[in-house]
Amino acid sequence: MVKRIVIANWKMNPQTLAEAKDIAKGIVKESAKLKKTTVVIAPPFPFLNSISISSKVFLGAQNTFVGKTGAFTGQVSVRMLSLLKVSYIILGHSELRALGETDEQISKKVIATLKSGLIPVVCIGERERDHHGAYLAFLENQIRLSLKSLSKKEVEKIIIAYEPVWAIGKTAREAMDSGKLHEMALFVHKILVNMIGREGAKKVTLIYGGSVEGANARDLIQNGNVSGFLVGHASLKPKEFGAILQATDK
Ligand code: PGA
Repeated sequence: MVKRIVIANWKMNPQTLAEAKDIAKGIVKESAKLKKTTVVIAPPFPFLNSISISSKVFLGAQNTFVGKTGAFTGQVSVRMLSLLKVSYIILGHSELRALGETDEQISKKVIATLKSGLIPVVCIGERERDHHGAYLAFLENQIRLSLKSLSKKEVEKIIIAYEPVWAIGKTAREAMDSGKLHEMALFVHKILVNMIGREGAKKVTLIYGGSVEGANARDLIQNGNVSGFLVGHASLKPKEFGAILQATDK
């Protein structure tokens, strides 16, 4: 049975702890009957300690910092997160890259996350597509730089979230279609084969993000050649998110 995973990226939502608890409770309920799908909720930092999780729903963080302790104003270490029972850390999201985060910084965070035994969810994705295929070289570069200096065994532990930036925050109709996603999954796989060999590349989990909703989840999981999703806006509505979970678990 293929292992599947769906990660809820709440971004800077919701505004209150009461709402966060409510949404998490709804997600735990929607997840109760899943057979092969792992669910992760990545809320804003202040809610990490208070939302409910379960045997199927794990905690994720939306970022971390490489320093262990000391004079790093505004930063949160991997260890602090692990002590809050965080198991996954989303790294290199395009919204952080847009604020200036570099592949080099992301690579250091990936290493720090793996060292503490947590699982990095490394986001990659082109801002736009061109007719000459420059976006493919761009993606390859992002993958190679973000996973720089990792051993083969370390790369195998990583989750790669392919999120074309042009598809984020829209509707199911504007998301990438499953045929194109299938091609992109093969492309990412080929890069991984070149990096760590065929057997190792098979072990790397690839998920898709960018306007996954109840309406397109089923087609994307059945025909898109990915093992799950990173879900933004639809993860704030437990029923809608539940529809994505059911589709993924089929
Ligand atoms: P979206 O966000 O599902 O709202 O497109 C996905 C993401 O940015 O991770």
